[in-house]
Parts: sequence; structure tokens; C-alpha cells
Amino acid sequence: MNTFDFSLLKTDLADLEERLRQYGSKPVKDEISLNQLFIDHLASGGSRTRAMLALAAGHSQCLDKAARLSIAASVELLHQASLIHDDVQDEDSTRRGKASVWAVAGKSSAICLGDDLIGAAFEELAQLPGSHIHQLPRLVTMLSRGISVMAAGQTIDCRWTPGDRLSFLDYEQIVRHKSGPLLGLPVAMVLALTGGSDDQILQVLAGASSIGVAYQLADDLSDQAEDFNHRLNGYWVLAETITDGADPESVLRERFDWHLENARHSVQTTPQFCVDAFEVLIQALHQKYPTFKVAA
Ligand code: IPE
Ligand code: MG
Ligand code: MG
Repeated sequence: MNTFDFSLLKTDLADLEERLRQYGSKPVKDEISLNQLFIDHLASGGSRTRAMLALAAGHSQCLDKAARLSIAASVELLHQASLIHDDVQDEDSTRRGKASVWAVAGKSSAICLGDDLIGAAFEELAQLPGSHIHQLPRLVTMLSRGISVMAAGQTIDCRWTPGDRLSFLDYEQIVRHKSGPLLGLPVAMVLALTGGSDDQILQVLAGASSIGVAYQLADDLSDQAEDFNHRLNGYWVLAETITDGADPESVLRERFDWHLENARHSVQTTPQFCVDAFEVLIQALHQKYPTFKVAA
């Protein structure tokens, strides 16, 4: 049985939202306020999945509220920064159906806001209560490495142009790097604060990368039409690169199942709350993309 109880998180989530809204620097002279830009960006929606995972996992392990919030805010700030930068990189003028930050305020301000939020993610870790202070170097390193992996994924993603030969393995490598770290960090950070070993942390991060790939596979298939002219338009990449006569859709589904299986397998020897966190992510994935079903 899943030990997560999201109903306990109401006040945590309200506090988190309040905390996030503090970030983004205030205007210098008559410059645009990054704080207001961020507040508007936050108001456009988003599921706060990564923050909720950190809060729920922390709750299940009786982690004190201050530590739960630091980790949740830290990963959420990083996630929002990655989206703001990604929209600049993809020249995508909408996010969640609204104008993206760069479309409102220009690329320069969007890059600055993203930078500002990445710094803020580290500032959030610095808020960890003193009782966890001995774990701070470990968490800072995890956060920094997560950013590096994501940046590596974004680099190859953005370098790719339609018409390039991209193998299926290239595709999986890109999405594993760009989407994996932020799904794994909330759970891995709670694990670090509750006595997890380095090996267990690596298992969580590796498993979460597979969930990231599964998300991307489902997403690429579901918005194949919209993505037709976009970079790393996954379905079309697959359709183009799977040349051995296989049906791209069935390859996608087969890999989707494999990755979810691999994710479950990766956390087999980690504490139960990591297994539960993965199940939450997998269930959310099935709800979002109901046509994808793991073979029984
Ligand atoms: C976003 O990837 C990945 C990161 C922000 C690291 P995509 O470009 O494929 O996703 P959306 O559709 O813009 O969110
Ligand atoms: Mg994008
Ligand atoms: Mg992108």
C-alpha cells in the first residue's frame, strides 16, 4: 500500500507557493521586475509535481517541515528555471497556453530570470535547518550535478535540426538527460536526509531517468501534430529513424513499458517511500496519457 498522503500537504503547498513568489530580483531603476515576471509565470499554472513529491516523501519520513520546504522549493525553482530557459531555446512563445516569459519580456530578461532562479534553488538549500547541516555538501553536489546533466541533454537537444540523422538511442539519451534529473532529485534529496546510501541515491536517480524517458515518449506521441515543426519533435524523429520496417508507435509503446519496468526495478532495494514515490509518478503518467498501458 502506498504510504503517501497528499491530503496532509495543504499547508505545505500554500507555504511553498508563498515562498516561490519571493524570488526573482526586484527592479533596478526602471528595469523590468524579474519578481513580477516570475509571479506571473507561476500564476500561469503547473502541477508542482516535483515539489509535491518532495513534500509527500518528506512527510512520510517525518522530515521536519523546514527541511521539506527547502527541498521542495529548491527543486521547483530549478524546474521553473529550466522551463523558462527551454522556451527561449525552443523559441516557444507559449507555456501552459499563455505567453511564455521571453514572449512577454524578451529573451534577455527570460535568461536572467532563469539564472536568478537557479541561484535561488541553492539559496533554498541553505535554509535547511541546522540539524541537517552535515548533509548540505551532499545536497549541493546533487543539485549541481542535476543541473549539469540537464544542461547536457538540452545541449544535444538544441543542436539537433530536422533532417539530421538521429538514432533512437540518441533520442533516448537526450530525453533521459534533459528530463530525468528533476524527477529524481526530490526523492533522492529526501533519501539523502533520511540516511540513504550513495548507491541508493544513484538507483533512485537512474530509475527516475527512465520515468523521464517514458513521460517524453508518451508526450511525443500525444502531441505529434503540434510538434510537427518543432525541435526534437520526437514522434517524427522516431518515424524517420526507425527504418527497419517497424511501426514507430509500437516501438514507442514497447520502450515505454520497458522504461517503467526498469524504473521499478531500479528502486527495488531502496526504502519503501522511494518505491511509493515512483508509483505516484507512474500513476500520474497513466492518468495523463490513458492510452498508454503497461502490459500486465
Ligand atoms: C523541456 O523539454 C525539458 C527541460 C526543460 C529540461 P521540451 O522542450 O521537450 O518540453 P516542453 O514541451 O517545452 O515542456
Ligand atoms: Mg520546449
Ligand atoms: Mg526543449
